[in-house]
Amino acid sequence: MKLIKAKDYEDLSKLAATYFIKKIQYSPAMTIGLATGSTPEGMYRYLVKDYKENHTSYRNITTFNLDEYIGLDGSNNNSYRFFMNNHLFNHIDIEKSNVHIPCGTSKDSLAECATYDQLIKEHGGIDLQLLGIGGNGHIGFNEPGSSFQSRTRIVELTDKTRRDNARFFNNPEEVPTEAITMGMGTILESKEILMLISGEGKREAARMLLSGNVNEDFPASALHKHANAIVIADEAALTDVPADLLKAYL
Ligand code: F6R
Repeated sequence: MKLIKAKDYEDLSKLAATYFIKKIQYSPAMTIGLATGSTPEGMYRYLVKDYKENHTSYRNITTFNLDEYIGLDGSNNNSYRFFMNNHLFNHIDIEKSNVHIPCGTSKDSLAECATYDQLIKEHGGIDLQLLGIGGNGHIGFNEPGSSFQSRTRIVELTDKTRRDNARFFNNPEEVPTEAITMGMGTILESKEILMLISGEGKREAARMLLSGNVNEDFPASALHKHANAIVIADEAALTDVPADLLKAYL
């Protein structure tokens, strides 16, 4: 795992966007995996800015998002589909038919999960997967204890994750209790992974991740098993990581 240190959130967002843009320009028909949440918002802002100024095209790009709440459809402004349309897809030239996000209102969620993994396979796998990290180390909605072999599936959200995400909802009770998430095994099959960690709220998660212990109780630690994983973290997130440990990754 490689670590790139960013000064602050803006710097991290710019670095991540530049990384994606270069990859897309080099491979304009690549398949990318995307995340939602506060962390990638800045990066999406830079992708949109670049699209407007430099016309980097997404016409032949295919995307797969990590997760979606069960019970929310795309018109609900807390759904991850709404988030992605609002922050990225509505502002670039991507074909909506090339956008994949698990359907949170499918009548058959189990079939939806199996189909999602199958679709990823049919597209030759994910070339570059973007990840954030939860305070408890979750990636996608793979909560602590998720098997590193798990596939796209229905999961119950922990109280911590529901509390963390309540800031987006009018009322904490509105936060769904279940979601569909790409599995750990599905994510780890991506050819390359780029994880973003920003802010003091992620200090403990960054410290745990960079400690190097690989354990299913801290899902993000699976990145140590991946041959091509890069973490971009800002100074605020890295404050509690001992300097000698940091050096080992730089
Ligand atoms: C959402 C996702 C989650 C978030 C994580 C951090 O698609 O994959 O694992 O990355 O919950 O969220 P933020 O960035 O809001 O701190």
